Amino acid sequence: MSNIDEMFDLAQAAQKNSYCVYSNFAVGCCIKSSQDHLYAGCNYENASFSLTACAETSAIAQMITAGEQEIKEILILGQDHILCFPCGACLQRISEFAEPTTLVHLCQSQGVVKTLKLNELLPYAFGSENLEKSI
Ligand code: THU
Repeated sequence: MSNIDEMFDLAQAAQKNSYCVYSNFAVGCCIKSSQDHLYAGCNYENASFSLTACAETSAIAQMITAGEQEIKEILILGQDHILCFPCGACLQRISEFAEPTTLVHLCQSQGVVKTLKLNELLPYAFGSENLEKSI
């Protein structure tokens, strides 16, 4: 099984555990870290809607909790009618732990449909360099 297939399977398994009772929009995500470990996550919602966590956020939390801080590739699986691009907040979270050239794989149920570099999705990221001159 290729690495992408394994990432897809883990994202799909995570998507099945999504808690999306309000939107009914289940998302799964899988991160490959710089050490080639895989971390999956799903979205989980809240009656207080703004407390919802996206699948990407959950997967990043898994990676950080395991002691890793570098995303090598990330795969996102949404619903089939349209590709699930990471939301703006998740792009910012991904960018904290990835390079501009990090690959973002966007999937539907048949597999990877589109692969983009992070800087195609977030060309002008706010990053730690912006804070260097702050007092
Ligand atoms: N969602 C994600 O998990 N990832 C995204 O990149 C976009 C949106 C979730 C959040 C919410 O539970 C549902 O999709 C509908 O917005």
